[in-house]
Amino acid sequence: MEAITEKKNDLDIGISTNYDADKWLEIFSLFVHDLESPLASMKYILKLINDGKYDNEKQMHRQLASSAQIAMHRAETIIYDILAVARSGKMGLPVNITKLKPGPVIENVINLAQGAAAENGIEIRVRDIHNEEMVLADPDLLQRTLDNFIYNALRHTPSNGEVIVFTSMEKKSITIHVKDSGSGLGDIEPNVLFEKFGQVDLRAKGKHRGVGLGLYFCKLAATGMGGTVLADDHPDGGAVFSIKLQKAGGE
Ligand SMILES: Nc1ncnc2c1ncn2[C@@H]1O[C@H](COP(=O)(O)OP(=O)(O)O)[C@@H](O)[C@H]1O
Ligand SMILES: [Mg+2]
Repeated sequence: MEAITEKKNDLDIGISTNYDADKWLEIFSLFVHDLESPLASMKYILKLINDGKYDNEKQMHRQLASSAQIAMHRAETIIYDILAVARSGKMGLPVNITKLKPGPVIENVINLAQGAAAENGIEIRVRDIHNEEMVLADPDLLQRTLDNFIYNALRHTPSNGEVIVFTSMEKKSITIHVKDSGSGLGDIEPNVLFEKFGQVDLRAKGKHRGVGLGLYFCKLAATGMGGTVLADDHPDGGAVFSIKLQKAGGE
């Protein structure tokens, strides 16, 4: 792919003073939060190995091993990003917009999630991906946004359920959707979910207890890429979380 990397303004999260411990804490929390999903993938394969169940002859196991390797990469990228923010001394998330096809990013994110999906007995499927058009996005921020959607979907979907990733195309934009077969949003106002510490699922217990930073990150990331995030119930049941991105080279 042609390297058309355009450095955009970093995502300013609204700092009033030079030294603002709360803002630093927020930026670092956003990064550390996103280490959870790659760690889950690595944890799953290590458990298989430690339990003596890993079988290289099984295609599914080989796929999980490759998923753990992608996860490792993702975790490294997040750590480098944290260090880059610290080194730059600038309080913001770095945003590097480029033109990309959504397909490979989606494939990568799904591979990463295979460990967590297998652990929860959930199938992740891809349907109708518009891959002929390029969108304007930061690949790293887009991956982390989709990771958050998928990881949430896995948490809110019962075993034997499914998570479907698909795209829709509008005149000037492409929207990537993550639909699950869970309980849906119920009476939660979708916009509240994208607020910092917005709506945290009180039903979730133990390891599923959240802090409410993931979707806030998704909103910041989408805004930084000139896009938007949306959440809704699907008419067939379950929730759909979406990110709308501008087509590259659109009028
Ligand atoms: N797929 C989903 N189905 C239903 N509710 C969801 C889904 N994804 C997120 N939510 C709701 O949004 C809240 C906030 O999610 P998120 O910002 O990702 O929190 P966290 O930082 O804990 O990951 C969750 O606690 C839950 O109430
Ligand atoms: Mg989350």
